[in-house]
Amino acid sequence: MKFIVNGGGKLNGEITIKGSKNAATKMIVASLLTDEECVFENFPRIGDAEITSELCQAIGAEIALNGSTLSIKTPKIKNYRVVPLDLSKNNRIPILTLGPLLSRMGKAEIPFLGGDQIGYRPVDIHLEALKLMGAKIETADGFFVASATDGLKGAKINLRYPSVGATENVILAAVLAKGRTIVKNAAIEPEITDLIKMLQDMGAIIGLGADRTIYINGVKKLRGTKYRVLPDRNEAVSFACLAVAAKGNKIKVKGAVHDHLITFLNELRRVGGDYRIESDGIVFWRPDSLSAIEIETDTHPGFMTDWQQPFTILLTQANGVSIIHETVYENRFDYIKDLNFMGANIKVFSKCLGELPCRFNGEGYPHSAVISGPAPLYGKRVKVPDLRAGIAHLIAALIAQGESVLEGVEQIDRGYEKIDERLQSLGADIKRIA
Ligand code: EPU
Repeated sequence: MKFIVNGGGKLNGEITIKGSKNAATKMIVASLLTDEECVFENFPRIGDAEITSELCQAIGAEIALNGSTLSIKTPKIKNYRVVPLDLSKNNRIPILTLGPLLSRMGKAEIPFLGGDQIGYRPVDIHLEALKLMGAKIETADGFFVASATDGLKGAKINLRYPSVGATENVILAAVLAKGRTIVKNAAIEPEITDLIKMLQDMGAIIGLGADRTIYINGVKKLRGTKYRVLPDRNEAVSFACLAVAAKGNKIKVKGAVHDHLITFLNELRRVGGDYRIESDGIVFWRPDSLSAIEIETDTHPGFMTDWQQPFTILLTQANGVSIIHETVYENRFDYIKDLNFMGANIKVFSKCLGELPCRFNGEGYPHSAVISGPAPLYGKRVKVPDLRAGIAHLIAALIAQGESVLEGVEQIDRGYEKIDERLQSLGADIKRIA
């Protein structure tokens, strides 16, 4: 699948953000914890949600989709061995089924993970935490084979790094475990808070303490829920960057939640973008030329790693030399070569160019980028390597002079529902070719 984009036109109007990919996919996995029905409103119709639905169905879930409402019920776990899906469609979610499967069946067999090629992406922190809760986990023939014959038990867990997935995994394992679990150095992304709120409605007891500490008292049973998925902050950031990337654009991002974007909005203003908060969304535009700034990605409430790629496009258009220090993934600058091919002037270095403590210091990973601007971009043929890089390619193509051909846009469809149609409504010249 391809997008043909004719760049350079002005984009104006409103775009409504959909339910969050990184919340919705976890919520349907959380629904496996109960045999009652869970109903999700504002459920995004995206590739990753479809893959996760197929995964839950393979485990035994019955799913019905009606527009953006998804109902899911898993009266019985039919398979505790999670059959590998088509590898080209694989994502990172299967490892999160460990908790629900161990809680309901005492056993789980999960294939090694796929997902974006943006770093090594191990699951050691997940496994160490689950072992502290009483799970036995071995590897055999490409699978993690786990068991908890006497059930999972509450534990004191200090995560080495505030991993989003590991925090979610522990929460999902702890809600039905015996006793109390204390997770220190937990990730506290808005999608995690939303998962906690949903689990509370299902009957869980979960406290959010100070200093990244989460307290979970295990309960015997969880019930169904009707829950509205929070709006996708990554979509909000993508459309905000698109608005500010070129002078003359003005885009209202309907559904954007101010609370989720505080750090982003500060950086956007520093670079020269502007915004107005309204009751139902945020309006973004660029008043004048942009100025170079330095950015470091971090876990929430820092500048999110998934915002790095769309923001890089702004920095290619800013006056002066900007720096991005990526501290979350060691290999998230592969897309830069395509931007340079389109006319950007970016060099990537393995030295830490920033002040945050960084796990990649001295390890030789290409995780700091120096961006010289402004650089006019030109339409080219490029292949989308992964979801967030894909959105950078797309924004670049929309502000570039001439025609771009983006191949492999299924990657973008994994996280953005019908983005071509929504961009057309802003005036974008974009066509989808099967
Ligand atoms: N890490 C480990 N060991 C572990 C787990 C993580 O070393 O056991 C490392 C990773 O290799 C990485 C860092 O910790 O360097 C952060 O990983 P984390 O576990 O926090 O990320 P994730 O749960 O795999 C989610 C999102 C990502 C998002 C990150 C960071 C989902 C499905 N994915 O991934 O989103 O970038 O958190 O916020 O929620 C995307 O949406 O395109 C995407 C990649």
